Amino acid sequence: MRYGYFDDQRREYVITRPNTPLPWINYLGSEAYFGLISNTAGGYSFYRDARLRRLTRYRYNNVPLDCGGHYIYLRDGDTGEFWSPSWQPTRHELEGYICRHGLGYTIIGSTYKGIEAQTRYFVPLGDSLEIWQLTLTNRREEPANLSVFSSVEFCLWDAQGDATNFQRNLSTGEVEIEDGVIYHKTEYRERRNHFAFFACSEELAGFDTQRSAFLGPYRGWDNPAAVERGRSFNSEAHGWAPMGSHHVRVALEPGETRQVIFLLGYHENPRDQKFDPPGSQRINKRTVKPVIARYLARDNVDAAFEALRAYWDGLLSIFQVRTLDIHTNRMVNIWNLYQCMVNFNLSRSASYFESGIGRGMGFRDSNQDLLGFVHMVPERARERILDLAATQLETGGAYHQYQPLTKWGNDEVGSNFNDDPLWLILSVAAYLKETGDGSILNEPVVYENRPGTEKPLYEHLQRSLRYTLDRLGAHGLPLIGRADWNDCLNLNTFSDTPGESFQTTTNKEGKVAESVFIAGMFVLAAKELAAIAQERGLADEAQRYHDEAAEMEAAVLEHGWDGEWFLRAYDDFGRKVGSHECDEGQIFIEPQGFCILAGIGLEDGRAEQALAAVKEQLATPHGIILQQPAYSRYYLHLGEISSYPPGYKENAGIFCHTNPWIMIAEARVGHGDQAHNYYTCINPSAREEISEVHRCEPYVYAQMIAGRDAPTHGEAKNSWLTGTAAWNYVAITQWILGIRPTYAGLQIAPVIPSDWPGFKATRVFRGVTYHITAERAGPGNTVSLTVDGKPVEGDVVPLPPAGQREVTVQVILT
Ligand code: BGC
Ligand code: NOJ
Repeated sequence: MRYGYFDDQRREYVITRPNTPLPWINYLGSEAYFGLISNTAGGYSFYRDARLRRLTRYRYNNVPLDCGGHYIYLRDGDTGEFWSPSWQPTRHELEGYICRHGLGYTIIGSTYKGIEAQTRYFVPLGDSLEIWQLTLTNRREEPANLSVFSSVEFCLWDAQGDATNFQRNLSTGEVEIEDGVIYHKTEYRERRNHFAFFACSEELAGFDTQRSAFLGPYRGWDNPAAVERGRSFNSEAHGWAPMGSHHVRVALEPGETRQVIFLLGYHENPRDQKFDPPGSQRINKRTVKPVIARYLARDNVDAAFEALRAYWDGLLSIFQVRTLDIHTNRMVNIWNLYQCMVNFNLSRSASYFESGIGRGMGFRDSNQDLLGFVHMVPERARERILDLAATQLETGGAYHQYQPLTKWGNDEVGSNFNDDPLWLILSVAAYLKETGDGSILNEPVVYENRPGTEKPLYEHLQRSLRYTLDRLGAHGLPLIGRADWNDCLNLNTFSDTPGESFQTTTNKEGKVAESVFIAGMFVLAAKELAAIAQERGLADEAQRYHDEAAEMEAAVLEHGWDGEWFLRAYDDFGRKVGSHECDEGQIFIEPQGFCILAGIGLEDGRAEQALAAVKEQLATPHGIILQQPAYSRYYLHLGEISSYPPGYKENAGIFCHTNPWIMIAEARVGHGDQAHNYYTCINPSAREEISEVHRCEPYVYAQMIAGRDAPTHGEAKNSWLTGTAAWNYVAITQWILGIRPTYAGLQIAPVIPSDWPGFKATRVFRGVTYHITAERAGPGNTVSLTVDGKPVEGDVVPLPPAGQREVTVQVILT
């Protein structure tokens, strides 16, 4: 069953009923100001950091679901009836409800008793504000006297304090109202130099800034007193709950259309110019007024929207593909890339499943997100790499996450996730191959955000690799630390205290438990660093990394192979995890994926064997399960993984993030059909027709789909913020379509399904546009290249001479 459809032409997902199984959301903003917006206009906004600079409130866990947002109410002055054109929060039955989620914007429209209302929400490029552009049309035969009410509830900036410290918060709220603009300025009197503004293009009939006045006592957003009576209270918030609402009267003749624009924005003043007049407590509005004036003009708003569309045209045109599979095309050409941008911007901070408070920018997460983003805006990828590296410790270890606003490593979450440092090597390698910009390696970067500790980025990478080698266990495999990629495989935690964090509690010294996953990852990272050293002309060093990789590979083959698949780990007692010898958790997906990605077992048949085991034991029609058999009870020595009921999350859920590793592995052994089949199983577009089962948005990946052991097998959860986005993008574009940046040029080595006649693609790489046509002339994956009409040896298209902007590539597969 579907709840909407893809409009590929307009690059939108169109939702045709408001009551989707879960709120289906979108993101506004791509630089500094961000908003989450659901298909019924729920959600909230923040500046840079969802925890520290939250503009508006949102209550998770609320009922009715998803209440609180970017809301507009309409009221018919003749009948007194009022409704929400976005359905929530009044939930009147609407005619012709439609929500179009596009790239960086959302349009929600409906008709109610002949009044058509459409609101376009977006954040213009280059400014920190969101625009709500409301178009009203009277489709009745007689004139309509309407009232429009806007509404937002302000958050007192720090979302954590806002949700907990009421004894203070209920007394600190402050606003100003000037020229019809509502300014939220809580704590501006003291240490903050920023405020929010909420403006309207029309003359106001009234306003409200105190929630209790607007709603009325004991009433909710579905029935505000001001809207019901058709008149604002002109309330001024002193403490309690500051909010913003404008009241505008609009009289429409039959057929007449009017626009009303609302702006919600964030603004900072220089610290020494906060007040006007100086010495007063009034906000200095001189710098914000021009911004407000600019976007209250309709032409400027339309132009800003066109600029946003053009921005996305540009980003999407970097890689476009035409295959015979519509789901592949749609995800590669539009939605997967878009999700990669959102993940790059927000890491795991703010979604409808991440509160924006707990998890900032993950070190591991952000490095992986970069893999799917680096070709889009390489300058931002560069900056991100340097920010991440600056949170690295001198040991080579890393803070597990940092706050986007301060860019400081977050102490509360700590470090010692022993895979973390290696991800930096993978992201830097991806950046270098994409851009050829070796200068980044010489950039001085601090350790632990401490000035004076600067060392070239290259040294950070050396220390990353060293970090693993300094921490090997009895089998010569890397010690796991708090956890590796699988945050829930906590082999040193041994927690028996309810509520204790599995990730930050350590009751064991951590000198025994080893990870085969990190071993595979080390081999991959060491090979990448060897290639980087080689590029820098450091042949001896490169050789050393190759030797270290080979040594680790030998350890994996000797102690990390279970007979038919790769072992997962050794626990704190030195016993196997992920072995046929175990009662539960006999086979895990992660080491199969990562060892093969690293090239282990490709020559001796073990890769094929491990993949056969994955197919037999882990594959389902809804995707590949993380491990089997699921843990049926809590195991003290395994930690959080066994805390989940069977079939969910890391305990035998289909943890989508890991699936593309298997797709890549299948491609590496030449199985195009199997690789693409796995790709399709979790492709959200391909799952659209079972939306009643999948339940999450059909246009973006979710972190997890419930596994076979779960009563709700096939149900997705935790959509949007997940490494699934970047890795699927890498799997399909670089390994199945086979178009991979390398130091020497663009490699084209497709491993596509046997029934594909070929495909066409364009890829912009280092400023050159490659027009690629691949044709199947035989059943295999052997590539013959013709570049600008001339045959070329191998599968790498050499970099063209300077000045050449277009290259035509023909690939024949036999
Ligand atoms: C989740 C993991 C997540 C971790 C972050 C756990 O509860 O299951 O997926 O990475 O929390 O701290
Ligand atoms: C989600 C986290 O964001 C990611 O870092 C981790 O690897 C996976 N969960 C698996 O636990």
